[in-house]
Amino acid sequence: MVQRRRKLGRGVAVIGGGMSRFGTFPEKLGRDLMVEAYTEALQTVGKGMDPKDIEALYIGNFTSDSFEDQGHLGHIIADTLGLAPRPATRVEGACASSGVAFREGIMAIASGMYDIVLVGGLEKMSLLGTEHVQDALGLAADVPMERDDAGYTFPGLYATMASAYMARYGSTREHLMHVTVKNHQNGSLNPKAQFNVTLRETMEQRKKRNAQRGEPVPNWRDEFDFLMDPGPNPLVAWPLYLFDCSPVSDGASCIILASEEIARNFTDDVVTVAATAQASAGPFSTWGGDITSIPSARVAARQAYEMAGVTPKDINLAEVHDCFTAAEIIAIEDLGFFEPGKGAFAAAEGQTTRDSDRPVNISGGLKAKGHPVGATGTAQVLEVWNQLRGKAGPRQLTGRDLRLGLTHNVGGTGGTTVIHILERK
Ligand code: COA
Repeated sequence: MVQRRRKLGRGVAVIGGGMSRFGTFPEKLGRDLMVEAYTEALQTVGKGMDPKDIEALYIGNFTSDSFEDQGHLGHIIADTLGLAPRPATRVEGACASSGVAFREGIMAIASGMYDIVLVGGLEKMSLLGTEHVQDALGLAADVPMERDDAGYTFPGLYATMASAYMARYGSTREHLMHVTVKNHQNGSLNPKAQFNVTLRETMEQRKKRNAQRGEPVPNWRDEFDFLMDPGPNPLVAWPLYLFDCSPVSDGASCIILASEEIARNFTDDVVTVAATAQASAGPFSTWGGDITSIPSARVAARQAYEMAGVTPKDINLAEVHDCFTAAEIIAIEDLGFFEPGKGAFAAAEGQTTRDSDRPVNISGGLKAKGHPVGATGTAQVLEVWNQLRGKAGPRQLTGRDLRLGLTHNVGGTGGTTVIHILERK
């Protein structure tokens, strides 16, 4: 295959963005959540904008067909947001759907076709029980091979990767727990997060609940003792327990993109797209015998760094796809932040916390912020955009110069990986 350095036909900037709260909202449809995200997005455009200037929509969604019994989502969202008859395209890349939608929007502007587009994603998962949610998510695997023949669920697929990693590199469950503790800590600073509390606070809530019910009140020493307790933290698929998993979530997020030439008409805080990269892979059996690293993530990461002309060391913060704790460990290695086999140990040493040199998942990640699968990619972009502009509220990183932020969004177990690097000008 010919290797060439990719570049955009013209610069693209983020000028607005918003998200609904992530959680479970029985009374709301997915489209209602997108209205919340879009309303916020318009309010964040520094100098204001007329929604009529939006020329097209790219809407990420994995499977509203299964979750909400609604297909053909693009035009529904265009109509609901008052943007019909503009062209609206539904984009599907499993849990990377809105990461791919973001990329499609970038390319539409870079090509010169449009000057301003809305990109986003949504998923309304909680109408189904967990068992049916897992059936629907299983559509993101290679269905005949991985779901039907091998009987995998998504926790099962990631558990297989996690146990392979532990066997190869000698890490333990405790290393994974550090990811849980960190991401819940970060989520506690994010008012839009599904789990907006630290694990300490969760422990206190559980104690209070037991006391109210007249049940024995546990005396956990610390978060790790709590996570070792199979009562509150039952096994899902070894070595992944409840608190190693992202939850079932409802939510929406969106971003307004404009060509760099006109971005200053809308904002003085210009943040541009320094790189967009996407790669594909087949099921585990095609990975050459190693499932401790995601091939499409390594390829997309290399292409993204090349396109931006930077190295992993230059990245100031990253939002990565921690659908399970082990996935965050693998992500930080695939992105080149740590060498293969070192990520678990680095996480346990605190090298990815918000006080570290290169914080990972300051938003709370998928683990604590929630993972309405189609909404995750643009929610990651939103966090990075807000952090780069100093507008992340109580969780804003301070005392450092933030210039480059990265997002890493994975569909399935890496059938699709899409990586973006944003740059503050
Ligand atoms: N982390 C922490 N707590 C969680 C949680 C999670 N991921 N998911 C649910 N909980 C809590 C709930 O808040 C609830 O707490 P409460 O008793 O205090 O109200 C309790 O656990 C039970 O919730 P429930 O929804 O009944 O859990 P469940 O056993 O049906 O489902 C999982 C738990 C982990 C199996 C489910 O969330 C899941 O399938 N997650 C993975 C989703 C996924 O695969 N996404 C795609 C990744 S590629």
